[in-house]
Amino acid sequence: MSTAISPTAYNYKVVRQFAIMTVVWGILGMGLGVFIASQLVWPELNFGLPWTSFGRLRPLHTNLVIFAFGGCALFATSYYVVQRTCQTRLISDSLAAFTFWGWQAVIVGAIITLPLGYTTTKEYAELEWPLAILLAIVWVTYGLVFFGTITKRNTKHIYVGNWFYGAFIVVTAMLHIVNHASLPVSFFKSYSAYSGATDAMIQWWYGHNAVGFFLTTGFLGMMYYFVPKQAERPIYSYRLSIVHFWALITLYIWAGPHHLHYTALPDWAQSLGMAMSIILLAPSWGGMINGMMTLSGAWHKLRTDPILRFLVVSLAFYGMSTFEGPMMAIKTVNSLSHYTDWTIGHVHAGALGWVAMISIGAIYHMIPKLFGRAQMHSVGLINAHFWLATIGTVLYIASMWVNGITQGLMWRAINDDGTLTYSFVEALQASHPGFIVRALGGAFFASGMLFMAYNVWRTVRASNPVEAKAAEQIAVVGAH
Ligand code: HEM
Ligand code: HEM
Repeated sequence: MSTAISPTAYNYKVVRQFAIMTVVWGILGMGLGVFIASQLVWPELNFGLPWTSFGRLRPLHTNLVIFAFGGCALFATSYYVVQRTCQTRLISDSLAAFTFWGWQAVIVGAIITLPLGYTTTKEYAELEWPLAILLAIVWVTYGLVFFGTITKRNTKHIYVGNWFYGAFIVVTAMLHIVNHASLPVSFFKSYSAYSGATDAMIQWWYGHNAVGFFLTTGFLGMMYYFVPKQAERPIYSYRLSIVHFWALITLYIWAGPHHLHYTALPDWAQSLGMAMSIILLAPSWGGMINGMMTLSGAWHKLRTDPILRFLVVSLAFYGMSTFEGPMMAIKTVNSLSHYTDWTIGHVHAGALGWVAMISIGAIYHMIPKLFGRAQMHSVGLINAHFWLATIGTVLYIASMWVNGITQGLMWRAINDDGTLTYSFVEALQASHPGFIVRALGGAFFASGMLFMAYNVWRTVRASNPVEAKAAEQIAVVGAH
């Protein structure tokens, strides 16, 4: 407990900016997801134009949801958590402001360049070198602000949430810089410094650890602060959090080759990636169990608190996708699932169920505190959002399981004479109903985000400075 800090002790401005942009980019990125999902149902929606074609909008979707929506949620919550758990203001307001505007500039750059077709072609690392350099500068500044704030903390120990955020920041910088090493040949085009199977391995070392550190470790940092806070219970086991932290970060880094099964990558590397992926189940579930068990004695709160429901259901999807992932990493299973919609379903179990749900819960928790309100404008709307998100996620992943297994089985079916039983188009036709259900599920999820925007807008608009000041004071006194 602290009483010595003045009400203006924390830099909430940058947290507010990132929190609001999380909602804005969430709507755009997921809206675009619904649009590309609809293109797979009605190909006419490509409009016969290169800029609006599926191939160009798909990477824009992934960049917007991962880096714009997910990234802003991570910036907002990490700046909030590091200040409150270290009981100190961010080390530099101007550097923090630079990370906000720099990050938005990278996103706007992506919105312009990707539809125009400028791309490195490496998945999740599509941005061409000028934007990649800007991103690296912003990221290093982020590291300076975050770790600088930790060094000037007024608490003795570093809360475990900050360990996860710290690892996410350091490893993301390393992945981005190594994978982006390339030779520019013009302002808009560069070629990778690596070639052949090495290039593929570096790319999936990056790709998998983008999942492991950007989409997992950072969000676990979020989980370790917001779940205990919202449940008003201490974290279940501090010891477990340390053990699964070290296990998670040591193991994730080896699992990348499971993206390259049955390719030109040496066989031993594929098997190593498979083995490491299976072991990865343990530390993943360590985090999930630690979060879930924090609710011991507080389960009844789920009946009345939809924010807590978002947080707990996100942990359930985290547990589910980190069980599914290791199974898909087994080479024989992967021979069925690879290239099919099963992978897409797995991705969105993690992306919608885990990443988006935990971010939404954390933003709902923070908004009233950031803008000086006792609570969100409407708890009923949060509840409606929760159901739209949950039903949307279930429709999405269930339809993709059905599609994925259907596609996998149809592609491998062989007649007695060795010819293929089904043509590719037949498998595509069989996938059509699943595409419709997926678009519907996505529309559910995205419309929930509109409810959120309205609720946030009403909460922000209703605030007044006096209340804001009082709430900030309470926040500071109550900080731990
Ligand atoms: C309304 C919600 C969403 C909808 C309707 C949606 C839809 C889609 C569609 C149609 C694809 C292309 C699938 C294909 O190529 O067959 C896709 C890919 C992808 N989406 Fe989403 N998406 C949504 C939300 C999200 C969110 C919130 C995230 C991340 C936080 C995300 C991450 C991804 C990723 C990583 C891929 C590429 C998957 C791969 O290459 O295996 N999506 N999405
Ligand atoms: C123990 C944890 C996990 C393991 C072992 C794992 C394993 C896998 C495997 C085997 C694939 C399919 C690779 C392929 O056939 O191409 C895959 C794809 C993917 N997973 Fe996971 N997964 C895990 C957790 C997660 C989580 C929590 C998320 C999201 C938050 C996630 C996001 C993705 C994405 C985006 C892809 C698609 C990559 C691409 O091809 O574009 N994974 N994962």
